[in-house]
Amino acid sequence: MTQADTSRVWIFDTTLRDGEQSPGATMTHSEKLEIAELLDDMGVDIIEAGFPIASDGDFAAVSEISKRSKNARICGLARANFKDIDRCWEAVKHASKPRIHTFIGTSPLHRAIPNLNKDEMAERIHETVTHARNLCNNVQWSPMDATRTEEDYLCRVVEIAIKAGATTINIPDTVGYTAPVESADLIRMLINKVPGADQIIFATHCHNDLGMATANSLAAVEGGARQIECTINGLGERAGNTALEEVVMALKVRGDIMPFTTDIDTTKIMNISRRVATVSGFPVQFNKAIVGKNAFAHESGIHQDGMLKNAETFEIMRPEDVGLSETNLVMGKHSGRAALRSKLNELGFELGDNQLKDVFVRFKELADRKKEIYDDDLIALMRDEDANA
Ligand code: KIV
Ligand code: ZN
Repeated sequence: MTQADTSRVWIFDTTLRDGEQSPGATMTHSEKLEIAELLDDMGVDIIEAGFPIASDGDFAAVSEISKRSKNARICGLARANFKDIDRCWEAVKHASKPRIHTFIGTSPLHRAIPNLNKDEMAERIHETVTHARNLCNNVQWSPMDATRTEEDYLCRVVEIAIKAGATTINIPDTVGYTAPVESADLIRMLINKVPGADQIIFATHCHNDLGMATANSLAAVEGGARQIECTINGLGERAGNTALEEVVMALKVRGDIMPFTTDIDTTKIMNISRRVATVSGFPVQFNKAIVGKNAFAHESGIHQDGMLKNAETFEIMRPEDVGLSETNLVMGKHSGRAALRSKLNELGFELGDNQLKDVFVRFKELADRKKEIYDDDLIALMRDEDANA
């Protein structure tokens, strides 16, 4: 049986590495330890804790996270040279389950930067992956910008990395260029063509420049990838990385057409999303899937009425599944009478039909003046109503 025949998908979180690379998202040492603990607790399989050669601070964070990890495998990033790989190993070796992740850009544009020809690069990949594997029995290798690398060269270098001992091959869509159909085909092609591909796990690592990171990651899984690389809230360079909460909830909600499982405790999603937003200083957009303030909020009368009768009319997931206590029926100018009655009941006011009619008119007048109506506004409205009665 090959990896592609199993239904289990490994979740590799890179909030602390690729996420932190987002300009302005730097986290302190203690914040990184806190986020790593939350990731470990929620069932993330592999935590990419940092880039140990990048700074002493990154080295210290990866070392400490390695020492403290409970269940997750701890991974550090290294470029394709011995110095980076040695430094990475020094940091991750404390983990009960360490991983070295080494990479090099393989597309024509990226090959031009170190000025290596195809053969020289192939040799570099062979040497560095062999070196990493001599230090650690779990090695991930990534051909950066894989989705813009010539197919025959990609097959060649993936084969070299597998032969040199890589246990996971990650296929990054570094610039968010690929589309879902290509993403699935690329992984399928590699599994079918590269000798030894059935012995390792393929990972997908997508960026969101065209807003397709989640779709591309799920398509890659269809194609046979069994590790998804992602970040909390989709934090990451430029438009970000695949959002963990999106791929995990998509697999949970649409198991009918994507029969894959993860080990993530989804009820912990909301809490970690809020912590990452706070420590990174990157607020979550209101309409962000799964974790946005409005993801489980309804204002329009038709929606609120439907929700009060049966939550499934306008929600495909239960708020409790992502760690929220309840759906938020926001009171505003689009709200209807049923929602107003329900909200006032919640606040302790029982209204007859005539009184509701009257209060509803005044509520609409207020809602035309005010964007959002809070509980206190409704209580004040009821006090006025009582005073005028
Ligand atoms: O996007 C990318 O290519 C990366 C690699 C380092 C895996 O983050
Ligand atoms: Zn990346």
